[in-house]
Amino acid sequence: MQTTETYNDHVVRLFLLAAAVWGIVGMSIGVLVAAQMAWPALNFDISWLSFSRLRPNHTFGVIFAFGGSALMGTCYYVAQRTGHTRLALPRLANFTFWGWQLACFLAMATMPFGITQSKEYAEPEWIIDLLIAVVWVSFAIVFFATLARRRIQHIYVANWYYGAFIIAVALLHIVNNIVVPVSLTKSYPIYSGMVDAMVQWWYGHNAVAFFLTAGFLGMMYYFVPRQAQQPLWSYRFSIVNFWALISVYMWAGPHHLVYTALPDWAQSVGMVFSLVLLMPSWGSAANGLLTFNGSWHKLRTDPAAKFMVVSLVFYAASTFEGSMMAIKNVNALSHYTDWTVAHVHSGSIGWVAMITIGSLYAMAPRALGQPQMYSHKAMDLHFWLHLIGLLLYAIAMWAAGVTEGLMWRATDANGALIYPFIDSLLAIKPLYVVRFIGGVLIVLGMVVMAWNLWYTAADARKRLITPIPVPIPEPPQQMPPPLSAAT
Ligand code: HEM
Ligand code: HEM
Repeated sequence: MQTTETYNDHVVRLFLLAAAVWGIVGMSIGVLVAAQMAWPALNFDISWLSFSRLRPNHTFGVIFAFGGSALMGTCYYVAQRTGHTRLALPRLANFTFWGWQLACFLAMATMPFGITQSKEYAEPEWIIDLLIAVVWVSFAIVFFATLARRRIQHIYVANWYYGAFIIAVALLHIVNNIVVPVSLTKSYPIYSGMVDAMVQWWYGHNAVAFFLTAGFLGMMYYFVPRQAQQPLWSYRFSIVNFWALISVYMWAGPHHLVYTALPDWAQSVGMVFSLVLLMPSWGSAANGLLTFNGSWHKLRTDPAAKFMVVSLVFYAASTFEGSMMAIKNVNALSHYTDWTVAHVHSGSIGWVAMITIGSLYAMAPRALGQPQMYSHKAMDLHFWLHLIGLLLYAIAMWAAGVTEGLMWRATDANGALIYPFIDSLLAIKPLYVVRFIGGVLIVLGMVVMAWNLWYTAADARKRLITPIPVPIPEPPQQMPPPLSAAT
């Protein structure tokens, strides 16, 4: 039996569209800055085209504009489906879409002109931060109000992750952005010195933890069982991992400040918590992968499932690498080198982008009222472009990072440095070219995805703006948690 009530997918479709557009914009800027590292003349001596100004544009574009739009869209989609209910407060939900796009646009438009707080991943100036805070609180209200009106008693685990992501990001954003404004475009933080550095890396690290990890785990816990058409391998394990992840992550931030003026004991706390963090990270990766048990044949035919499986492999790989890099002796080699950049991108292009793309391919036809994506071949092409691009990127940067680390540390019998710094740059230049080629392939894949989405939406294009009615099924009489295994 079905009610006449329908899901509100209007705002979901808008976020889907925004994620595709920002993905292309943010990653294209990544390709440009990658090209500038290989051929520095590509900044054409124009200040707003310089590496230092475009790099934060890339990170903000991919993390907050692309990742944020994908997270908010899927969050609204998942909260409705797992609660068998319609999105609460539709006008406020629409406001979160337009408000978020405006905040991203303003941040991206002001940074190239040097308007920045100079805090990594928190660059926008105070006025944009205020807008972000208002939008984020509205997002929280819509999400929790939708949970409150759910017609299934159980709150499915994906919502726990989305909920933690929403609460933690609000906390991080507000605490790290407490500043004294001196003009519309300039402010100074209330923290200073080492305290400022520690607050910044408590923020920066937990932006990785809650924006780039917990939110995407929410996505994973809903879309992986859907795509594998299997219940989650172990529901209980997913809850254990949830509590472990959110209680451990907050303490690992000092691993970004190893061998700095931060007290040694605080560095050690960061290192130990980073090692413990491996357990819940691998727990979720294993839970996702084992959910494919019985459905591995899908990897031959279903590109969305391929994206998801590879994303989980990279989630496991990058978290293992992160835990190792947090060990002081390893960090002594990896810090300041391209090894960190390799780690970042195996996490972000491998885990974050691939789980997002897999989930978008799973969600788009449903949200657009179509039986499937327009072109299966195009999805496959995207998968291979992305995977080859990612491997070129990550392998080149691993090689570059280890080369730099070893060359910088090499000393002769008298303790003098063997290599001048410029030698290390010359040694890795070919690897920067390889990274650039990898980036071009990844962006091509994103263009193929946008093309495919556009044609999938062809029939529904008129309805892209007006809602497509998807009836909400009645909740079952018995209440097992949706998608869960009987474990
Ligand atoms: C076409 C794909 C991409 C290319 C070519 C690319 C390229 C780059 C380059 C050249 C840098 C600067 C590295 C440096 O300062 O030495 C960078 C930094 C960064 N990128 Fe990307 N990127 C891509 C995709 C992504 C995605 C999808 C994400 C996140 C979802 C991401 C997140 C970051 C972050 C967080 C940094 C800062 C790294 C650090 O501070 O160590 N990138 N990227
Ligand atoms: C168990 C999980 C993880 C641990 C313990 C960990 C640990 C680390 C360590 C030790 C660094 C190097 C800090 C430095 O030397 O400057 C680092 C950097 C970084 N990691 Fe991870 N990592 C983990 C997972 C991830 C994942 C999944 C992502 C992305 C989705 C990610 C994104 C980043 C970013 C963006 C940076 C660079 C920050 C910067 O300097 O700008 N990490 N991580």
